[in-house]
Amino acid sequence: MDSLRVTVFHVVRLGVRWQAFHPGPCAAYTRRRFFENFSMQIALAPMEGLVDEILRDVLTRVGGIDWCVTEFIRVTERVLPVSTYQKLAPELFSGAQTAAGTPLRVQFLGSDPQCLADNAAFACGLGAPVIDLNFGCPAKTVNKSRGGAVLLKEPELLHAIVREVRRTVPAGIAVTAKMRLGFEHKDYALDCARALAEGGASQLVVHARTKVEGYKPPAHWEWVARVQEAVRVPVFANGEVWTLDDWRRCREISGVEDIMLGRGLVARPDLARQIAAARAGQAVVEMDWVALQPVLADFWRQARRKMSPRYAPGRLKQWLAMLTRSYPEAFALFNALRRENDCSRIDAMLGIDLPLSKRQEQLASA
Ligand SMILES: Cc1cc2nc3c(=O)[nH]c(=O)nc-3n(C[C@H](O)[C@H](O)[C@H](O)COP(=O)(O)O)c2cc1C
Repeated sequence: MDSLRVTVFHVVRLGVRWQAFHPGPCAAYTRRRFFENFSMQIALAPMEGLVDEILRDVLTRVGGIDWCVTEFIRVTERVLPVSTYQKLAPELFSGAQTAAGTPLRVQFLGSDPQCLADNAAFACGLGAPVIDLNFGCPAKTVNKSRGGAVLLKEPELLHAIVREVRRTVPAGIAVTAKMRLGFEHKDYALDCARALAEGGASQLVVHARTKVEGYKPPAHWEWVARVQEAVRVPVFANGEVWTLDDWRRCREISGVEDIMLGRGLVARPDLARQIAAARAGQAVVEMDWVALQPVLADFWRQARRKMSPRYAPGRLKQWLAMLTRSYPEAFALFNALRRENDCSRIDAMLGIDLPLSKRQEQLASA
């Protein structure tokens, strides 16, 4: 009886997933989207000021990530120019995917349905394969101008926004949404989720905290389960998953398979790969500090190439500070680099000129 129930559950879920992605004009494309969508997914969270094209590139190369998202693109009153996408979504100009082949979604933040729809249509014209809408940003400046989490007070507006964007972008492009559980309280969480799904969002990511809860643990994964019960579209759990054990507990409590990883993945670049391996019943081999070095060097080389020498060191320090959460060895490097702003000296400290084998020897004996 139990196995019958499980089979029925999966058949229903399959049907929902089939419906969730609106069929595109091309059958092969639709088929690919269906199978991508059927397998359980791990997403890299959008993080403004942190997960830019460089970090998206290096993290998706490490592996285990099914899709990633731009930092939010704020829309107020006009259709943004191509230069905005060259800066915030450069992957659109090379097949809308990172070098590792991981698809990129474009995220918008705003409150005007028509303006958001016009910008979404423009982004689709540039090749955005999925449009994501942000209803979770807690920043005061953003909320003051009626954007992000403050809209969770107005489920009707959420519905109107998604409906207009859905109506405007081509049928083959999915519209998805990312929400928190509310602004001050969780009373409207289910109404908001229903409004988004009924408006046409084909997936929801739930950052399981209210705006006033900020980023303080815990994340209320049990609410992800309540949201999934309330809507028929797939729901992704998000918030406070830092380790494989956190993921196991999140899956158990939320009851959903799909997950979006934010700070946990930045602090532990192989977290998605570990989860994917565990999910597939394979042995989990953690990436140690030595194995992380080429990834760090790659990040630094790209930062050097793409950013001004004034800002590149800051980005490296920002990431290193987060890596200290998972790698005690990162403290020594962070402390050594803390006051260093000269790019050539940072090259030397990272051993960028040394052949990799020499550098690994050096690290192993440190
Ligand atoms: C520095 C930072 C920037 C963020 N920027 C965005 C953003 O641009 N769009 C968005 O939807 N969420 C943004 N978020 C929220 C994350 O996507 C995610 O929901 C949150 O960090 C919780 O997940 P985590 O506990 O796995 O980090 C941001 C979070 C942080 C810490």
